[in-house]
Amino acid sequence: MALLEITDLHARYGMAKSLHGISLSVEEGSIVGIIGPNGAGKSTLMDSIMGLVENTGSIKVAGQETTRLDTSDIVRLGVGYAPERAHLFPYMSVRENLLVGAFTARETIEEKLEQVHDLFPVLKDRWAQETATQSGGERQMVSLGRALMSDPKILLVDEPTIGLAPKICDGIARALKRLNQEMGLTVVIAEQNVNFALSLAQEIHVLETGSLRVSGTPEQLRSDPELTKAYFGH
Ligand SMILES: Nc1ncnc2c1ncn2[C@@H]1O[C@H](COP(=O)(O)OP(=O)(O)OP(=O)(O)O)[C@@H](O)[C@H]1O
Ligand SMILES: [Mg+2]
Repeated sequence: MALLEITDLHARYGMAKSLHGISLSVEEGSIVGIIGPNGAGKSTLMDSIMGLVENTGSIKVAGQETTRLDTSDIVRLGVGYAPERAHLFPYMSVRENLLVGAFTARETIEEKLEQVHDLFPVLKDRWAQETATQSGGERQMVSLGRALMSDPKILLVDEPTIGLAPKICDGIARALKRLNQEMGLTVVIAEQNVNFALSLAQEIHVLETGSLRVSGTPEQLRSDPELTKAYFGH
């Protein structure tokens, strides 16, 4: 079953159109990658799913139309979002930032905190630290953790590896894989780091200037000479 179904999505910032008729679906239990260069519309696509950008078309989560819902109701439907560059509250502690994500799931706070600490043990040790003083990798972990606090069915992650060292990226990849395999979470990753997306996703959508150029498995995309030249190096 498609957990997320997007049909003919157009999005705009004021007069500027950013997405021109995107249609794609995300199967329950899968990891899907959205790749594309700067300005392709990856963040706009995720913001649209969260109801943060003016858009037309249809977005369904578990069969329910979300286009007219508020962001908080979209979170309640089971969509978690770790936005680009984390967007944490810098002068709040790790724990306080995590609790911000728990506004829809007050009864399960302790259980969700335990899950986040199990996934990222460093956050348990550093629970009282202001996120402004954390490393980029730790902040990314807080961002992912905060998105998990609402107990989502589907997690949207925007450029989780931006500015991070390869070893830290590996840790993020392991965490996303565990969430998918052990906890059954469906994951959508927007990335410019093509290899990161290819190593995790079963299906990839290539976005260029607001339109889908091509979709396929990592193997299918790697066998296309033009795409290989544009995105995958050699
Ligand atoms: N707040 C905004 N106001 C006006 N235009 C915007 C805004 N945010 C994005 N855009 C425009 O929308 C288009 C898509 O941008 P978007 O941020 O979605 O791209 P992206 O694929 O996420 O790029 P990046 O990899 O750099 O994050 C770009 O042309 C961008 O200039
Ligand atoms: Mg972006």
